[in-house]
Amino acid sequence: MTTTRGLRDREEPFTMLTAYDAPTAAVVDEAGVDVVLVGDSMGNAALGYDTTLPVTMADVASRTAAVARAVDDALVVADMPFLSFGVDEAESVRNAGELLKEANADAVKIESGPHTVETTRRMTDLGIPVMAHLGLTPQHVNRLGGYTRQGTERDAAEEILALAREHEDAGAFALVLEHVPSNLAATVTDALSIPTIGIGAGPDCDGQVLVVNDVVGLGEWSPPFAERFGDVRGEMRRAIDEYTEAVADGSFPAEEHAHVEEGLDDLY
Ligand code: KIV
Repeated sequence: MTTTRGLRDREEPFTMLTAYDAPTAAVVDEAGVDVVLVGDSMGNAALGYDTTLPVTMADVASRTAAVARAVDDALVVADMPFLSFGVDEAESVRNAGELLKEANADAVKIESGPHTVETTRRMTDLGIPVMAHLGLTPQHVNRLGGYTRQGTERDAAEEILALAREHEDAGAFALVLEHVPSNLAATVTDALSIPTIGIGAGPDCDGQVLVVNDVVGLGEWSPPFAERFGDVRGEMRRAIDEYTEAVADGSFPAEEHAHVEEGLDDLY
């Protein structure tokens, strides 16, 4: 059973993977992945949006509840969607609390910045474990002008390091670093005692995270820092083509897929 504290003591790099539904979460958990993230990446990966911005609390709550029902061992982290935190402190805490109380998440993740330090402290004080997230924060895509590398200039790198320390001090139990230079991720990892989890941040973080669609090869597109380890899209297409052909040529349903009841042949 993975706990927020347990991640700190890992000798080997640990894994986090997204899941947005029960069957996928069950496979991810069975495979021994340490943390299942119900990411707001569901906007692109599962809900058909172009960005994560339209994802709602209701979307995350319902998907988190489904994932939590399917997971036995992994830590379940629910991603707080755009504007569900940061606008009003009390509402942020209530929304995070709802993800723990009603959807059974173990922790929440927040796309972080200077505005989330106090929110992280308040949630942590109240018993809501917070995973921080720095570097590329996709909820800021409109301000950033795209899904671009972050922390490439000295000032920006220093700001990420400072914010990482502030979030650790505020009580965050882990930190996601997205699309930042490997040497910056290594420096941040060395500077913190909480674990870092990299995505497009090189090999020196304590753990790695990817979007499950990218790992299994389900999406049409994946980011440059992801690796496809399978071709689920190709396999789904093959199975569906075979099904439509079998229906068309009459080989499905066969005798074993149907049943006949005695005495129903002469109903009229
Ligand atoms: O929403 C998400 O899946 C994420 C990860 C990619 C870190 O934030």
